Amino acid sequence: MKTVAGGAAASGDCALSVEVGDTLAYNVKALSVPKSCGTATVTLTHTGKMPKTTMGHNWVLVANSDVQTVANASLKAGADNNYVPSDERVIAATTLVGGGESATVEVSLADLDGAYTFMCTFPGHWAVMKGTFTVGS
Ligand code: CO
Repeated sequence: MKTVAGGAAASGDCALSVEVGDTLAYNVKALSVPKSCGTATVTLTHTGKMPKTTMGHNWVLVANSDVQTVANASLKAGADNNYVPSDERVIAATTLVGGGESATVEVSLADLDGAYTFMCTFPGHWAVMKGTFTVGS
C-alpha cells in the first residue's frame, strides 16, 4: 500500500459519486482512482423522478473490448437481474436504480490498470451512456 504525503489519498479519493437523472447521461464522462486505494467505492444516485422500469440506470464496469458483448448479454439477463449478466467480463456493477434511489458497488483494483469503460446496461442506454474509468498510479 502506497502512502501519499499529505494524506492526498484520503478516503475521499477512493469514494466516487456518479449522478444520473431522467435522461441518458451520467454527470461525469470520466472517473479516475489511484490503484493505492485497493478498493474503490462507486455510488450511483438517480436524481430524477422516473421509475426504474422506464428510466432505470446502473453502473457497469467492463474492459473496453467487452462493451458490446456485455451490453448484448445484459438484454438477455433482463430486468430481474438488473440487466447485468452473470458473466466474468462484468468487473463490477450496481443494481438498477430509479428516481430517488441510489446504489453502491465496491471495485477491487488489484487486477486493474489503465482505462476501462463504465456504462448503463438498461435497454437502449449503453450506446450513449458510458464513460471512462481509469485506474492510475
Ligand atoms: Co441508463
